[in-house]
Amino acid sequence: MSKKKDDIDHLTEKEAAAELKRLASEIKLHDAAYYLSDAPTITDAAYDALRARNTALEAKFPRLIRDDSPNKRVGATPTTGFSKVTHAVPMLSLGNAFTEEDVTEFIDRVRRFLSLPEDAQVEVTAEPKIDGLSFSARYEDGRLVVAATRGDGAEGEDITENIKTIGAMPLKLKGPRSNVPSVIEIRGEVFMTKKDFAKLNAAQAAKNAKVFANPRNAAAGSLRQLDSKITASRPLRIYAYTWGALEGMAWDTKMAFLEQLEAWGFPVNERSKLCRSVPDMIAAYNKLGEDRADLPYDIDGIVYAVNSLAWQKRLGFVSRSPRWAIAHKFSAEQAQTTLERIEIQVGRTGALTPVAHLTPVNVGGVMVARATLHNEDEIARKDIREGDTVVIQRAGDVIPQVVQVLAEKRPKSSMAYVFPEKCPVCKSLAIREPDEAVRRCTGGLTCAAQAVERIRHFVSREAFDIEGLGEKHIEAFFEDGLIKSPADLFTLAKRGGKAKLMEREGWGEKSVDNLFQAIERRRTVPLERFIFALGIRQVGQATARLLAHAYGSYESWRKAMIAARDEDSDAYRDLTNIEQIGPSVATDVVAFFAEKHNRDILDTLDKELTIEPFEAPDVGDSPIAGKIVVFTGTLVAMGRSEAKAQAQALGAKVAGSVSKKTDLVVAGPGAGSKLKEAEALGVKVVTEEEYLALIGG
Ligand code: IVH
Repeated sequence: MSKKKDDIDHLTEKEAAAELKRLASEIKLHDAAYYLSDAPTITDAAYDALRARNTALEAKFPRLIRDDSPNKRVGATPTTGFSKVTHAVPMLSLGNAFTEEDVTEFIDRVRRFLSLPEDAQVEVTAEPKIDGLSFSARYEDGRLVVAATRGDGAEGEDITENIKTIGAMPLKLKGPRSNVPSVIEIRGEVFMTKKDFAKLNAAQAAKNAKVFANPRNAAAGSLRQLDSKITASRPLRIYAYTWGALEGMAWDTKMAFLEQLEAWGFPVNERSKLCRSVPDMIAAYNKLGEDRADLPYDIDGIVYAVNSLAWQKRLGFVSRSPRWAIAHKFSAEQAQTTLERIEIQVGRTGALTPVAHLTPVNVGGVMVARATLHNEDEIARKDIREGDTVVIQRAGDVIPQVVQVLAEKRPKSSMAYVFPEKCPVCKSLAIREPDEAVRRCTGGLTCAAQAVERIRHFVSREAFDIEGLGEKHIEAFFEDGLIKSPADLFTLAKRGGKAKLMEREGWGEKSVDNLFQAIERRRTVPLERFIFALGIRQVGQATARLLAHAYGSYESWRKAMIAARDEDSDAYRDLTNIEQIGPSVATDVVAFFAEKHNRDILDTLDKELTIEPFEAPDVGDSPIAGKIVVFTGTLVAMGRSEAKAQAQALGAKVAGSVSKKTDLVVAGPGAGSKLKEAEALGVKVVTEEEYLALIGG
């Protein structure tokens, strides 16, 4: 995946915005498939990759974070249990302004649309844009009858019972009956204060329960509880700011409406005010920006709305946003602090990820003690050093980042940071491919940091397919030293594992027997599954198959990989001569064998297992057998090389450019000239998903 992340550095804002848009809708579809239909159409890993890419893009382009960002949605769609509510009037979103010019343009547009003179005064309300989640509450004859989340804007979830538990929410509109419309949908924001969020998280942590990433997630998680008693126990607040459906009443201005809201008993943001000119608006924006960190709640901008409701009516909507309102966004919140230390974390594929440990600092009301440094090049490019004073920023859900080093505050004794070339956990060599941003530990199966994930991979469905060993079990067994490596699975019985497992809570004789049977059933394994299960970097299912195909048996593969350590050897040449196995994959495979502990594990596995020689399949009936396929753009579910190898294993020829002979172009996001070429030539083009469906993967 790392290669794909690198290209983020080369994306223009326009491309990034387009991709964020695509990711938002794609993730939404997958969420629906998962949560609503219980029928995911992609693997968890592919889904995680989509989300990771979205998060990485947002980190790089915080300005482009969308209102419908998947990171802002908490399991966006209803799980079972919430019924749906159709909004009588859709809940729309707002256009964004980032600069003073954007604000001027907004007012000019209003004037043009209404055919007002160039210098006509346009009054607007300015209100803090609360970073919470919006609700719509329907009152009939003054009584709350139903409340819903925004959902997709047309339809939300019924949260009536939950919203009733929020103390500030009027169940009945205050005032004389004559002053109550027959129907009104009150709209506003549910949120949690920064203080309440910190308290809730501390209590959650003490209970070993889920902690929330930020106040908005905490509010969303609290509101979307199937058990409204839980919602009642959470410190939720509201502000009301607009209406949807309305019958039997009218006002002249937005300001007058806000006053009415207050009279009915709704909390209305105390900073809402009237602006009479663009300079007024900018002054309100700047003042709010100055006070932002001291506000008790998170805000991400200011909302301007044309004050005259007659004008609002004339202005109407353009696509999904009103012409009469706009959100003037704040940039990410920043603060200065000292970078005390750079820690290198080892991820599941062995990627070494640098993390900055900071002197804790308050960034817009949230204490920040760590920030991501992305990778080695990022540290070098910004010349980030331990002891530096740095500017960090936090934007919405994005992990805090180091924006800049204040070189003038650098201590004299400071030294450039040297990125380790050994894994800090297991001390194995950490290598970096020439075209990769990430350095990786080659410790493989015996690096403690990677071990748990590797065991998980080893037992996963596509690998050894051992049932009954969930993540929690693997973690627990690893911690106790019962299973330190995949090889230990097959020696567990001999080592008295059965008795040891029976002593554990939650393990009865039956479940222990089932697990041991599941392990026993897998003592015979096809070579390609075995190779894949090892979790060697860049060796996915397709590459594992290529290797199995090329070497036939485990013994000859092992011998060749050890001999290939010498790059002048025939063994190395043979390896890189395998179609689709380039020097990069070869380096990873050879590096795996170069580590003695990996060879030790292989030897144990070899003793315990029967590894079946490769049997060449009949690819005659594959839907792409004999076809010429071109991959272009970013592939999400697998790397480019893996996709190519898989296509070849299915009998296709993979070409690098599009011609009349091309049968199929698989185009991911960012596809450029090749896609155009294909369209011009009338060659069939499919998305990655369609392609996977086609080949049945
Ligand atoms: S007015 C047509 N006022 O921001 C929508 N929205 O980006 C009119 N929001 O969906 C919305 N504070 O959830 C308005 N003071 C405020 C707001 C506010 C937060 C949210 C709201 C809306 C989103 C649009």
